Order: sequence, then structure tokens, then C-alpha cells
Amino acid sequence: MNILVIGSGGREHALCLKLYESDNSNNIYCNPGNPGIQQIAQNVQFDVNNEDLLISFCKDEKIKLVVVGPEQPLAMGIADKLRQNGINCFGPSEYASQLESSKSFAKEFMDEFNIPTASYKTFESKDLSDCFRYIENSDLPIVIKADGLAGGKGVYISNDKNEAKQIAEDFFEGKFGEASKKIVIEQFLDGVEASIFAICDGENFILLPPSQDYKRAKDGDLGLNTGGMGSFSPTPFVDYKILEDVKTKIVSQVLKGMKSRKNRFIGCLFVGIMIVNNKPFVIEFNVRFGDPETQSVLSLIEGDLAKLFYTASIGSLEKNCISIKKDKYACTVILASEGYPENFNKGFEIKGLQNNSSLKDRFIFHAGTKIENNKIVNSGGRVLGITAVANSLKEAKENAYNLAEGIDFENKYYRRDIADSAIK
Ligand code: AMP
Ligand code: GLY
Repeated sequence: MNILVIGSGGREHALCLKLYESDNSNNIYCNPGNPGIQQIAQNVQFDVNNEDLLISFCKDEKIKLVVVGPEQPLAMGIADKLRQNGINCFGPSEYASQLESSKSFAKEFMDEFNIPTASYKTFESKDLSDCFRYIENSDLPIVIKADGLAGGKGVYISNDKNEAKQIAEDFFEGKFGEASKKIVIEQFLDGVEASIFAICDGENFILLPPSQDYKRAKDGDLGLNTGGMGSFSPTPFVDYKILEDVKTKIVSQVLKGMKSRKNRFIGCLFVGIMIVNNKPFVIEFNVRFGDPETQSVLSLIEGDLAKLFYTASIGSLEKNCISIKKDKYACTVILASEGYPENFNKGFEIKGLQNNSSLKDRFIFHAGTKIENNKIVNSGGRVLGITAVANSLKEAKENAYNLAEGIDFENKYYRRDIADSAIK
């Protein structure tokens, strides 16, 4: 079957690679793609939010399945448009995507379906005095979240009530535009975080190996929040019992809840959990794969991902299309542009990519790269994701770092401590 993947990052490169390796895939197109993806798929460029262009492309190229990487097109209803036109989509409806695009929607949904999460309250700008009173009466630290999509930057944790009030006011005044006109203030949960992906067909699901990402820019979890500086999988902090809780108390409840609301959840449900006293609490839902967790998680998978996604998209998930590599570990190190997530320079040639293109169990996933004068240069904050798979996490880390050191561009920056929290 012909497949269209939407997106341009390392996550989409990893998705395209596994789809390319699937028995059930023929032509793979990626919109807009990147220079790494171009080696295994055909990059195409049109506005995916334009329904006419999207549907005519899918019809012309006989696309049987669309796989959506990022959240924005899902929040804008791409899956609904495709399904209305008879095209299968691995991704949830606009309604179900609110689990990610509106924190207040997600919190109310969790309340209704008894899904474990932090206690919370929602406020709008007209509630400023109530909000301030609530902050006054809260324990520290205080967690303040913009309701809408804020590119992963809409969460602040404050240890000072005056600062928390200022943050709330800035949010109401539109720090993140419409996304922060409503806010959620929630109880701080102290524990270990993990990311768990559930592949869902609306009724049934399978979990992929649990992973962890590193959001801060600098070693020791210091510095600014980023899109993610590295990941590893599986994480030893998620044991069998926690996974059972995630299945029965979280994912099953989401599927049941969405079904009862006539919006069966089809796609990847990303459950971000905090483990407190050996129990999982939902910190966030995303309605798509995580980046850079996907680069690690998919590297541990064998089999026919195309068939898995296709059967999910038509509501009859065939779980045994894939298997998890036994006793293997994956580690992904992000090579970023120095200065990310703030200002950084671009356009530097990336050297050392060719020497490494055929290594076994090592992968170079492109993200912020482009071709300029026949050379591959950095064009974004997160440039490459270097992934290695090995028999232990320690070895996976060493192999990823060895490969990372052999790739060079002028302002290359990376964390040195990815996976250390689990190796020690
Ligand atoms: P989110 O975008 O909701 O995942 O939040 C971003 C990050 O903020 C999470 O990955 C956590 O590290 C942290 N965070 C969010 N909510 C909480 C909470 N209730 N307690 C502690 N940390 C949190
Ligand atoms: N790695 C977290 C995310 O993709 O949102």
C-alpha cells in the first residue's frame, strides 16, 4: 500500500524507516519530510490543512493510509477530513485530539472516567481574583499550565506564590496567545516520569516499550525546557505492575470514554506519567508519537508497522504484526545547534554522515537539516537524533555517543548524560 506520513522531524524519519521496512508498504510519501527521509521516501510539499489539496493528492497517488506525526494537523481535524473522504488515517479525530490540545478538556475527561491524575482547577481571565485566592491556598510548588497547544513550553512550576500569580496573569494576558487565555493549576507530583505509547484502533490497543525523554537543555536536568534532548527505552522505572495499571486504569478508560462520546480513539495515545509510590498518574496526554522517544522506541520493534497502523486505522488491530526485540535497549542522543532552544546559527555543513550510513543497530535520524548547495546543513534547533540499539542500556548509550562524536558541524551541542539516570 502507498502511505503518506505528515511531518518533518526525527520522529517522522523513524516512522518512515519502519514503514519502509514493512512488507505491506509500497510507495512512502512524506510531507514536508527532510533530507534524511528523502533517502527512503519521497518528500512532497503542499499545505496539508487545505482539504482539497490533501484529498486530491491522496486520490492521485492511491494513498491507502495517512500517518500523522505532529499534533497541529490533528487538532485541526485532518483525520476527520481524510475519513470523510474514505481515506484511512492513523490519528484521532479533532474531538479526541482535545486530550492534547486542551488541558482542561483532558482533566475533565480524566475526572469523568476515573483516570488517576493530579488534582486541579481551571481558570479564565475573568476569574483572576479566584485564581489568586486558589494560589494563596495551594501548597508549593505550584504547577501552572496553559490550556491550549504551546509547543511544549506552556507549563511553569513555581516555588513562590507571587511569582505564580505573575505567571497566571501573563498567561491570561496572552503569553501564548489564545492557548493561555485559560489555565489549569494543578497539584505538583513528585516522582519519576515516563512516556508510554498505546497503538489504538478505537477499542483495542497494544503498548510499546516504555521510554523516558530528557526535556531540559543541559546536563543534570538544568537549563531551559526543549522539545527533548534525548531518550532511552525501555525504562526500568516502569515495571510490570505499573504497565498493568497504565493499561487498565488509563488507556482502557480513554478508549471506553472516547467510544461513549462517539469518537473512538484511533492512533497513538501518548501517556505521560509520573510514578508516585509505584502508581502511575497522568501528567499529560498527547495524541501522537513523542519526539525523541519514538526514535528509541521504534528501534526496538520488528515486523510490519505499516500493517499495524493500517489495521488500527480500520478498527481491527492485528497486534502480532510486530514484536519487540528481546532483551534490547535503545538510546537516542539529540545533536542540537548551540543556543537552542533560544537563538542559534544555521547553515553549517554537517560532516561525517556518509561514513555511518550503513552501520548495524545504529541510526541517524534527521530533524533540523536541509540541503544547501548539495551539502547537508543544520537548519533547526534539534538537528539529528543519533540512536543505538544494544544488549544493555550502557552499551546502547556508548554506541550512540561514539556515533554522535563522529558527526560534526560548527555549533554542535549535545547533552552527555542521556540514560544515566537508568544506568546508575
Ligand atoms: P506537560 O506539558 O503537561 O507534560 O508538562 C511539562 C513538564 O512539566 C512535564 O514533563 C513534567 O516534568 C512537568 N509537570 C507537569 N505537570 C506536573 C505536575 N503535576 N507535577 C510535577 N511536574 C509536572
Ligand atoms: N517528548 C515529548 C513530546 O513529544 O511531546
